[in-house]
Order: sequence, then C-alpha cells, then structure tokens
Amino acid sequence: MSLHNSPDKKYLNLLDEYTGTKVVFGEGAFAQLGEHLLLERIDRASFVFGGKNSYIGSGLCKSFTHMISGFDIDSPNVTEVPPEPDCNDVRRIVEAFREQQPQVVVAAGGGSVMDAAKAAYLSWQTGLDVSELFGVDVASTRFPDKTFKRVICIPSTSGTGSEVTPYSNIVDPETKVKRLIMEKQIVPEYAFVDHCFTKTMPPSLTVTTALDALVHSIESFLNTKSPTAHPASDEWAIESIKLIRYALPFVMNGSSDLLYREMLSAGATLGGMCIACRPTSLPHLCSFSLYGQIPHGLAVAGFLPMFWRYYLADEAVRKQTMRLAGIFESEMPQTTPESVVDAAERFILRFAKPLELSAETIAKIASDASGNPMKLTSAPRPVSLENAAVVITSILSVKGQA
Ligand SMILES: [Fe+2]
Repeated sequence: MSLHNSPDKKYLNLLDEYTGTKVVFGEGAFAQLGEHLLLERIDRASFVFGGKNSYIGSGLCKSFTHMISGFDIDSPNVTEVPPEPDCNDVRRIVEAFREQQPQVVVAAGGGSVMDAAKAAYLSWQTGLDVSELFGVDVASTRFPDKTFKRVICIPSTSGTGSEVTPYSNIVDPETKVKRLIMEKQIVPEYAFVDHCFTKTMPPSLTVTTALDALVHSIESFLNTKSPTAHPASDEWAIESIKLIRYALPFVMNGSSDLLYREMLSAGATLGGMCIACRPTSLPHLCSFSLYGQIPHGLAVAGFLPMFWRYYLADEAVRKQTMRLAGIFESEMPQTTPESVVDAAERFILRFAKPLELSAETIAKIASDASGNPMKLTSAPRPVSLENAAVVITSILSVKGQA
C-alpha cells in the first residue's frame, strides 16, 4: 500500500499543532538548539544523557561537542542516566543541578533519560523529593501560583514520545515497581526531534520503540470516552499509525533511507501528543507487571489485540476501529471491526512473538491491575474494580486470532 509514495509530509503540519511543547522537527533540528541557547543568552546549561553507548553511538556526542564549541557556555555539565532510572538516580541528578545551578536543562537520549530529567528538574525547583511527586499534578497543586521551568528534549529513539508528554516513569527502588508522575509542569518546553540520531539504533530497539509508539496511537485513538482529547488527536493518531505501519517494514528490511527513520520519529512524537491528551488504557496497564521481563514495546503490542477485541463490545469503539480499515494489510477487504483488529495483529506478529503468559503471570497481572482503578474505569470498555481480576484473567487466557 503506497500511503507515502510521494510523501507530502503532512506530519510536519500536525506536529506544529501541538501547543504543549514547541516541536522543532527534522534533519538539522539539533543545530537549532545551539541557536536557541544563544538567543536566550544561556551561559549555564546542564545536559542529561544516557550511557556512553547511546550517547556516542547515536552521534549525540559528536553533535553536542560541535555545538558547544560554537559558543560560550560556561559549564557544559553532563549527567548520565542508567536505563530504567529509579528515585536514587533522579536524586543524583538533582544533586548535580544544585551544584550547577543551570538556567536550562537539556535531556538527550531515550525515554529513560527524558523521564529522569523531567522529574529531577521539577524536584530541584520545588524542593520536593522525587518520591513526593508521584501522582497527578502534585507540584501544581502544592504551588498553584508558581510556574516552573521545563526541560528541552532531544530524543535519540523513536518510541516513547516523552519529549511532548506530561509523564515521567520512575522506578521505586523499594518495591521495584515503576511509578508515574503525571504533571502538566513537566511537559517539555522544546523538543528538537532529529531522526538522524535514531539511525544507529539496533533492530531490536527499533522494533520495540516503534511498536510502543504504534500502541500509544492506537490506544489513545480507541479511548473515545476520555474527556481530555484535543480536537485534532484522532488525526494525529491516524497519521502516526500510517507512518509506523508504512516505514517500519522498510527499516527492518535494512533500508538506510533516512526518510523511513524520519517517518518513525514523526510517528513517535505524534503518538506522544496523542497520549498527552488522551491516555493509554489496559494494554499499558498490564505491561507494568512485565517490567524488567519483556521490553515495554513488545509487551504492549502483545497485549493490544486481546484488549482491543474486548473493547469491541462497545459501539463507539467499533465505529472508531472501522476508521482504521485498510491501514494494515489483509487479503480480504476489512468490512468488520474484528477484521481490522486481525490485520493489526498480523502486522504486530511480523515483528514480535506472541506473548506467552503462564497462569502465574496472568494471576499477577490481574492482581496488580486492581491497584490502578483510574486506568480500569477509564478504559474504552470500563472494568469495575470488583470485576478486574476475573475480566483481565479471562481476556489474557484467550489465544490470539491472527
Ligand atoms: Fe508506552
């Protein structure tokens, strides 16, 4: 299907529609960060990066060194973040900020890096420990008259969308569970999205991040009951799904054409815009229980078709699903919502093995889900707290159809 044979780059206009973050997109976006810092007369900036492999391998190191040499930043301080950062990692970054007193914070890396920097910058400015920030708009509620400075993001992967979201996932080191900060004051101020940094991602990371972004867009699109949707979020989601569905097979077949990387980056940032205003639901909820066992993108992609079929009992979801007919390939015309889900599942199975969940794992997921009543009751087909364990167990016990 030639969805983008002569790309009109519609996504460039859609990325401009987002008011939460100023998105600077495309090859060379990074160079504009330097101009931004010059214009703002910044002489104290803190830079938060991932491990050396991603920092050097993605080309960020080279670009960063070149940019810094171009003007006079007093203290180009760099703090490294490990994968899956916990509260102690965030506290370490806050300590660095205390010493550095930055005028701006730049987070360059994958979702972990951006999430940690977002949490640390708010923690430093509010004086609240990161553990006190978990929950919804805690800082905004504690300091209703204050506006805090927000980070600048440079994603080096194409998946999480953290560069435009109000979310930060941080591991609680005591319980080893990921916890969420949802706070409007951590939506990044700027995102410089340069897909050139993603071209050295290994295939496994390309797949898991792309599938994460795809699921963000689909889950958000199906979440028809959410009261917070932006009027254009359906269009953002459809474009994101088309971009990822089209570009991922080319990239995974070894194409080095940067246009496909550009499409994946645009799809991921659009996916982030979608979930920023209309969140994910049960697939993401269930993936939290598999943290550390299965890469996040593979987990949510594995869960998606099972819950999507469950959601189809809702008439609004059936109608919304039909708007995706034909995006994913199938031999027969997609005339029912069930056939659309089957086609989407077949696409996912080209890149990810089906989830194999033991009875014990299913029981744990069902039990953990009860701890998140908000995601259960706001799902496209809501699940009551009392029925959560039974409903989720029965959904996860059904084998896939594709
Ligand atoms: Fe995700």
